[in-house]
Amino acid sequence: MPGDGRLHGKIAVVTGGGSGFGEDICTKFAEEGASVAVLDIDDAGGRRVADAINAASSAGGARFVHCDVSRRSDVAHAVRTVVDAEQRIDVYVNNAGITHRNQPLLDVTEDWFDRIFAVNVKALYLSALELVPVFRANGGGVVINIASTAGIRPRPGLTVYNASKAAAILFSKSMAVEYAADNIRVNAVCPVAGETPLLTEFMGGDTPELRAKFADSVPLGRLSQPRDIANAVAFLASDEAAFITGIALEVDGGRCV
Ligand SMILES: NC(=O)c1ccc[n+]([C@@H]2O[C@H](COP(=O)([O-])OP(=O)(O)OC[C@H]3O[C@@H](n4cnc5c(N)ncnc54)[C@H](O)[C@@H]3O)[C@@H](O)[C@H]2O)c1
Repeated sequence: MPGDGRLHGKIAVVTGGGSGFGEDICTKFAEEGASVAVLDIDDAGGRRVADAINAASSAGGARFVHCDVSRRSDVAHAVRTVVDAEQRIDVYVNNAGITHRNQPLLDVTEDWFDRIFAVNVKALYLSALELVPVFRANGGGVVINIASTAGIRPRPGLTVYNASKAAAILFSKSMAVEYAADNIRVNAVCPVAGETPLLTEFMGGDTPELRAKFADSVPLGRLSQPRDIANAVAFLASDEAAFITGIALEVDGGRCV
């Protein structure tokens, strides 16, 4: 509830907020009292999420901002839009991500390689270019990058995606040590396969057998749910995590053990 939520008064930005994990991160943030900017390349999805938050009386409020996270001009425009409206940004979640379908590495086209690295890795760099000056002016800030267990314990058929998520984890750790002196905390969150539209691509289809195969690889015996991820992200975004930086938090039911 606003007023006593753990993100009360915080200004948050969530990329890829129009679907899947990003949608629930936006909703959870608003429930915890944050004002949320929902960034997405999909205007319909992003607007739907922002409208739903604003329709919920307990929410901290939301606005949709169109943004292709792989384009510097879009990222700069989104950051400027939020700062112009709210005077600052406290929390920025790089959640937008794409994958190739589960397939042999040699079948992944060069174009897909470039697109995956642009959205999953280059976007972290582009957001840092715009955010670090804003955070410095405000005395600090929090970045949370949604990586994946794929970057720690890779499955076959997803090599390019796996590599992009390993890069996201190391980018987070390196940025954490480089900007700790500026009171900028940077952490990665590593979900195991979860119930979102991307799941079909990861599994290479969607059948009860494929779901059972993926769930059986998780010691707690199920796929992740968006709320599992949103809860972890909300904790890292909050002041309760003030001394936590440079971690890759596995939210994976034990998959990476
Ligand atoms: N679902 C899983 O099993 C799983 C597991 C581990 C990690 N992840 C990661 O979680 C994150 C969210 O994935 P999801 O499963 O919710 O996927 P999703 O497809 O449901 O949502 C991704 C959102 O990102 C948006 N997006 C895509 N490209 C964009 C771009 N260039 N600019 C702005 N927005 C863009 C999409 O429009 C969509 O709204 C991704 O980084 C993904 O790699 C997902």
